[in-house]
Amino acid sequence: MDNILEIKNLNVGFDIEDNFYFALNDINLTFEKGKIHAIAGESGCGKSVLINTILRLLPKNSRIKSGEILFKDQDLLKLKEKEIRKIRGNSISLIPQDPFMSLNPLYTIENQLLEVPSIKDRENKINIIKGALEEVKIKNIDTVLKSYPHELSGGMKQRVIIAMALISKSDLILADEPTTALDVTVSNSILNLLLELKNKGKTIILITHDLSIVSNYCDTTTIMYLGDIVEINSSDKLFKNPLHPYTKALIGALPTSRGKKLENIKGQISPITEKIKGCKFHPRCNFAMEKCCCIKPKLINNVACHLYN
Ligand SMILES: Nc1ncnc2c1ncn2[C@@H]1O[C@H](COP(=O)(O)OP(=O)(O)OP(=O)(O)O)[C@@H](O)[C@H]1O
Ligand code: SF4
Ligand SMILES: [Mg+2]
Repeated sequence: MDNILEIKNLNVGFDIEDNFYFALNDINLTFEKGKIHAIAGESGCGKSVLINTILRLLPKNSRIKSGEILFKDQDLLKLKEKEIRKIRGNSISLIPQDPFMSLNPLYTIENQLLEVPSIKDRENKINIIKGALEEVKIKNIDTVLKSYPHELSGGMKQRVIIAMALISKSDLILADEPTTALDVTVSNSILNLLLELKNKGKTIILITHDLSIVSNYCDTTTIMYLGDIVEINSSDKLFKNPLHPYTKALIGALPTSRGKKLENIKGQISPITEKIKGCKFHPRCNFAMEKCCCIKPKLINNVACHLYN
């Protein structure tokens, strides 16, 4: 198996007032090249912290306590700021939830695309840019090039960001809830674009809290809960035979079969400042046993739950 990214024993947290709280606990993940990998879980489970740790875009009060993030034989966590800046937007691209974050409101789309580092020394810049915009199915290319970000719809802005990733020739694309702000039709077309990128050999890590898109688009799925990986598998297996009660609850809450009553997951995800002993899901779990309250289950054979281990 050819892996593009390996995360080993990653522990990350935040200084909040006078204490330190973990947001990611002992994360071990490998990402095979040329696939779409989903990372899913409710709001607050640590998805964005994980993505932002890969690109070293964490806020000031964060601390990476330990771990390695290996990308093309180099540990991203050991790189100097100057070196990681070369990787961002070059070999690893980020598609954020809010495309405004990646677009400068003061410049036209054309000027921003001309600033993509890997295009600067190339000939036929404008043809390369137009080719990328065509690939992301933008029709009125000349108008879009002359536009400022606020003149474009959310879907159009996301297409421009994906075009940036194409121009930069990134091998790895980190997409943090890229469709959350979009309506269903636009969202599907953006996801289809990601699928096309995968078919061209790119690797995509797709962060989402919407499991309904995962089964159609993603090869593997990692389920996170409060900074822990609780289940990981090929998306096929995970949907056919979910093991962890949290995964089952997330799938049970999906509006799939008509007439089926949606089951809400009881309770709410806790803030990281709340210390929970044992399995962090136990206050919400319908299968909790005595030991769940005091012994934290390990991730064994793709699942971290005492029902199996
Ligand atoms: N700068 C920070 N200081 C303190 N806590 C933080 C900070 N950034 C994130 N957190 C906390 O870390 C946890 C994980 O946050 P994260 O943003 O990764 O969640 P998420 O899974 O991406 O959620 P969402 O689906 O809402 O985007 C949350 O409890 C969040 O409040
Ligand atoms: S370890 Fe216990 S509380 Fe946690 S998910 Fe499994 S059964 Fe539920
Ligand atoms: Mg997030």
